[in-house]
Amino acid sequence: MQLNTLSMVHEFLKQHVAPGAFCIDATAGKGRDTALLCRLAGENGRVLAFDIQPDAIAQTKALLSSECLTAEVILDSHAHMEQYAAPETVDCVVFNFGRLPGGDPAIFTRAETSVEAIGAGTRLLKPGGVMAIALYYGKENGYGERDAILAYLQTLDDRRFSVLRCDWANRRNDPPMPIFIWKER
Ligand SMILES: C[S@@+](CC[C@H](N)C(=O)[O-])C[C@H]1O[C@@H](n2cnc3c(N)ncnc32)[C@H](O)[C@@H]1O
Repeated sequence: MQLNTLSMVHEFLKQHVAPGAFCIDATAGKGRDTALLCRLAGENGRVLAFDIQPDAIAQTKALLSSECLTAEVILDSHAHMEQYAAPETVDCVVFNFGRLPGGDPAIFTRAETSVEAIGAGTRLLKPGGVMAIALYYGKENGYGERDAILAYLQTLDDRRFSVLRCDWANRRNDPPMPIFIWKER
């Protein structure tokens, strides 16, 4: 199968999320990232998953239940994630910006809340923690969210965070960008 952004993000998660980890899936959607985080963190780990759409919450819970996995699936904006976890306690935060596949095309992640949520995620990460982002853009989303996120990432202190943003040079149709962030120890 051809390499793509989701497979790269999943490989990154497999390399960085150890049993017992505390993880946040900031955009639960259909629950595929939540399920992977649950499998990697194992029964001694803890996973929070956020989405603003009841339909996404239901789909995530159904997927977890079908795989006998457990997460705290929360109907709230990822911009509020600091209300659910203490600073510097989280091992991994995952974002999959864009819209719910097959869902309402009018509901998608927005620049203002996305930037706020990435900032919240950086504060929640433990030293040594990681963040993975699949940044979808174009179509209904337009380019404003992508540009705001990329501009924000450039402001992160390079003594505290390493930010790797990747771009597909020869893929058509606005391919999502994989972005990886490490919080220094
Ligand atoms: C591309 S989908 C996520 C796909 C998901 N990771 C999966 O594995 O299926 C983006 C999701 O972000 C959700 N979303 C949009 N704005 C949000 C917000 N402010 N807080 C949390 N989730 C949000 C959408 O409802 C949608 O389900």
